[in-house]
Amino acid sequence: MTSTLPAPASPDWWRDAVFYQVYIRSFADGGDDGVGDLAGLRARLPELARLGVDALWINPFFPSPMADHGYDVADPRDVEPVFGDLAEFDRVLAEAHALGIRVTIDLVPNHTSDQRDWFTAALAAGPGSPERARYVFRDGQGPDGAQPPNNWPSIFGGPAWTRVPDGQWYLHLFAPEQPDLDFTHPEVLADLEETLRFWLDRGVDGFRIDVAHGMAKAPGLPDVAFDAETGLFDDHGPDDPRLDQDGVHDIHRMVRRVMDAYPGTMTVGEVWVSSEERLARYLRADELHSAFNFRLLTADWTPEDLRAAVADSLDAVAATPAPACWVLSNHDRPRHVTRYGGGELGTRRARAAALLQLALPGMAFVYNGDELGMPDVDLPDEALTDPVWTRSGHTERGRDACRIPVPWSGSEPPYGFTTGATTWLPMPEGWAGLTAQAQAGDPGSVLSLYREALRLRRGVSGGLTWLPAPEGCLAFRRDSGLVVLLNLSGAPVPLPEGRVLLASADVADDLPHDAAVWLQA
Ligand code: GLC
Repeated sequence: MTSTLPAPASPDWWRDAVFYQVYIRSFADGGDDGVGDLAGLRARLPELARLGVDALWINPFFPSPMADHGYDVADPRDVEPVFGDLAEFDRVLAEAHALGIRVTIDLVPNHTSDQRDWFTAALAAGPGSPERARYVFRDGQGPDGAQPPNNWPSIFGGPAWTRVPDGQWYLHLFAPEQPDLDFTHPEVLADLEETLRFWLDRGVDGFRIDVAHGMAKAPGLPDVAFDAETGLFDDHGPDDPRLDQDGVHDIHRMVRRVMDAYPGTMTVGEVWVSSEERLARYLRADELHSAFNFRLLTADWTPEDLRAAVADSLDAVAATPAPACWVLSNHDRPRHVTRYGGGELGTRRARAAALLQLALPGMAFVYNGDELGMPDVDLPDEALTDPVWTRSGHTERGRDACRIPVPWSGSEPPYGFTTGATTWLPMPEGWAGLTAQAQAGDPGSVLSLYREALRLRRGVSGGLTWLPAPEGCLAFRRDSGLVVLLNLSGAPVPLPEGRVLLASADVADDLPHDAAVWLQA
């Protein structure tokens, strides 16, 4: 079954779209196993339409042993039974399209699961076999090859190499259950193309590309620079031979050729690189349509940092065909309510941050739960499931805290998330006021703020011009006449001229500290 959007569908729909990130395990459970799934997502689509999002990005739902919660893909062209099946995916697609919501999915090209048929065949076939050539197998160093082939660390901690019983080592930039593919092998590239076409033919509108700065490794696999004094590697630095290598751009060009055969589809890359200039290289006309800019997600809550994040991100794309792409939170980083201080303070700032993010020109990604003001949750050791926790030797708690299931209704766990009694990560007590149901009828809620912002945003267009603003404040104007003021000055500031459209806090003549306002000039 395929599915198409009703006309008129602008091929550039994505350039100012609001994407809603569905972390599928945690969004909504259509059954009782406590794990979110496609049926749960489908049932909640009307609520996402009411929220006013333009598109979804669904995190990986492919068959996976879940060593990294789906980013270890055993079959890129099927659906993990825990999440549903292909027929259910097709229904999600059709029903989302009927509601005017586009659907983009995760593409995980850099690595596979160690349970993918290719990898089990590579292990069985032995050193020097064609099966091993699809991955990065090497002999070790030192007598008996007992040392790894180079000093590369895994991004999840520990070495990036694991030794197999016959003595060879294989590369995994993430967990050992996620062996890296060798993209110089033609079959690897051909398989990626097959995966793209498989989902595009079903009707998906695009892909979020995982580790889009990975895939190509420096020829000869030289050591990563290591500073003995600090004990730190040049992690993601300009000379990191694991990432952001020139060869990666050929892969993106191949992907773009495929995408161009499906007008109206798009890609957004997860690109962590050392500078805005390096980011812009991924956004050339024949590469990615767009790439996340993580500057808002990493900025401190200070006027200087926020202004620089906005200005630099706009500069980064200015000389490319891509729009900017704004992210406050995702499934890999602490949620912004928590980053900004948590509790009432964090929520107050998060409300202001939402009005900043949603007023900026370009694409915006809302992570499921942002619209409820969800915070991170401190979990006990025994509840942690992220491979980062074990790989770091229990020194880093990992990302579970930002992946708690979404509270939908009711006054105690599991808050309508599942019909079962437990959830894959425990949900805390005290969230009755945070649920979508509790917030839906409250005009002062975070949910109401997001709904109104997304509605008003439809009338906003054009570039951004900075306006003079009091010390500690940011002010800008969009060409269509929206004026935005964000106050981090420590004291109330007078409102600019114009009709107040929306504010993150109560405003009269003044805008309070840690608040933002939208006005029509
Ligand atoms: C990306 C994903 C992250 C995953 C990693 C490995 O950074 O966002 O969740 O663990 O890639 O696939």
